[in-house]
Amino acid sequence: MLNIVIFGAPGSGKGTQSERIVEKFGLNHISTGDVLRAEIKNGTELGKTAKGYIDQGQLIPDALMIDILASVFDSFKDSKGVIFDGFPRTIAQAEALKQMLKDRNQEVSIMLDLEVPEDELMTRLIKRGQESGRADDNEETIKKRLVVYHSQTAPLIDWYKKEGKYQHIQGVGTMDAIFNDIVAAIEKL
Ligand code: AP5
Ligand code: MG
Repeated sequence: MLNIVIFGAPGSGKGTQSERIVEKFGLNHISTGDVLRAEIKNGTELGKTAKGYIDQGQLIPDALMIDILASVFDSFKDSKGVIFDGFPRTIAQAEALKQMLKDRNQEVSIMLDLEVPEDELMTRLIKRGQESGRADDNEETIKKRLVVYHSQTAPLIDWYKKEGKYQHIQGVGTMDAIFNDIVAAIEKL
């Protein structure tokens, strides 16, 4: 099983590169952001709860997120592996993921950290906000998401280094060039 954590700040290209990885390696994809946006669209109770956090650029509580993740993971049948996009985002989530995989005789194979400077992140997300209208892609909320990323999520870089799973990926450049670097890192495993 190939279990990949794709990691990076908001707008670093996690979703973009996940689609390509899924296609090339035949993995299942869990984007916790996409799961929550679908719940909001369908007007579920979970969606109503999630919307309050997402619109403020804040994280959904760990316990809720961990339950959602496990149920999506267990819905995959005969999986070759999973790409985790936007999860984990806190140390508690990383520990929960490790335990969840261990309970199923699996582990994270690699953590890919897409590094992109802040001005480029802002440019990408403002542009997407104008084109697609994602509710949290406005300057004020993007700034909050970046603060949350630095305080709660970036500490996972050292956590995965200690686990021996960390792989830095230069996240600026063409989507193809970045994908080539990702493929090279995966094929070395
Ligand atoms: P989530 O949906 O995960 O959003 P995010 O982390 O803020 O990241 P994005 O999806 O905005 O960016 P991305 O890295 O996927 O980049 P993309 O490929 O789209 O989470 C949203 C919210 O949900 C959170 O704020 C939180 O509230 C909640 N949530 C989600 N997971 C949670 C969790 N685990 N725990 C608690 N709460 C959670 O690219 C961005 C743009 O850049 C696109 O327009 C793309 O076309 C463009 N682009 C991509 N690559 C390049 C390139 N190489 N050059 C130029 N442009 C590029
Ligand atoms: Mg995304």
